[in-house]
Amino acid sequence: MSEKPATFGEFLFERKVSRRGLLKFATAMAAVLALPEPMVSVLAKGLATAPRLPVVWLEFQDCTGDSESFLRAAPRADAAQSGVSDPSVVDLLLDYLSLNYHETIMTPAGAASKQSLDDTLAFYSGQFVCVVEGSIPTAQNGAFCTVGGRTALSTIQSVAPKARAVVALGSCAYDGGLAGAAPNPTGAVGVGQAVPGLANLINLPGCPSNAVNLVATLVYYLTLNQWPALDSTTKRPLFAYGSRIHAQCERRPYYDAGQFVQAWGDADHKAGHCLYLMGCHGPVTNSNCPAVRWNAGSVFPAGANWPVAAGHGCIGCTNPKFWDTNTPFYNPV
Ligand code: SF4
Ligand code: F3S
Repeated sequence: MSEKPATFGEFLFERKVSRRGLLKFATAMAAVLALPEPMVSVLAKGLATAPRLPVVWLEFQDCTGDSESFLRAAPRADAAQSGVSDPSVVDLLLDYLSLNYHETIMTPAGAASKQSLDDTLAFYSGQFVCVVEGSIPTAQNGAFCTVGGRTALSTIQSVAPKARAVVALGSCAYDGGLAGAAPNPTGAVGVGQAVPGLANLINLPGCPSNAVNLVATLVYYLTLNQWPALDSTTKRPLFAYGSRIHAQCERRPYYDAGQFVQAWGDADHKAGHCLYLMGCHGPVTNSNCPAVRWNAGSVFPAGANWPVAAGHGCIGCTNPKFWDTNTPFYNPV
């Protein structure tokens, strides 16, 4: 940690990122976070003076989809066209965060990796952010998922209370996800159930969760030292989960006009008409997918595409218990 500058602003200065580049990034983040224009300078100033944030990333019963999504937040190949800076500020921010422990991408292995976690807990207790990916099995005392001989249940119950804040990333960490679907043989639950009463928890569901929302959430936390406004029952940030997909969808005019796809590949499908009859769950799902989209596109932060634009209905992957409540996926809601 010591070889990197004390603040993100100094780090950017070292990497020759201009103030204009930082302002463009802050503008993009303010747009994702649905903040008013005066907040751009607040974000830029906060980012410039933000200290390094130690991050512990725990993976339990998962498919690593959220890590994959996170690592594609802004591929360098896209940075030149991103309009943000080259290399992009997103890349640099992810580089600047101190990812002290991440089982998939960390260099240490075996006992050394466990030491990395123990060291972070010892030196940064109450200072690190804990990101959790995957569900936590509770049946048979959590025996269905162990890392380094320790159950996921025991790990999350000892690590989460020591964290400054906890991010449940993806639907599995939110409420058990696919492993937690009926009949749920492993007793899989999300972080909120595994560690009841966790004070500073934020849920970013999705299968996987969108990396732009994670980056925006971390930017908000780094600059304002609190989570963005949350839905009081689900603890999901309103900027990302406050609006129905159906209200933002580019196919909505076809819904209103009664022009529906009735079979995959029919003339309406080829014409880009509404996917409601094909089971699209946009009318019952809250997410900013139509705005932030997925995978790095040509204009940061908007991604290249999203499920409905690609021709498939939304399956409602940000909804609570969506594997149970939204199936069968291809029936009209
Ligand atoms: Fe709504 Fe889905 Fe039709 Fe879009 S495709 S208008 S989200 S039903
Ligand atoms: Fe999930 Fe629907 Fe978005 S399936 S990725 S919430 S379009």
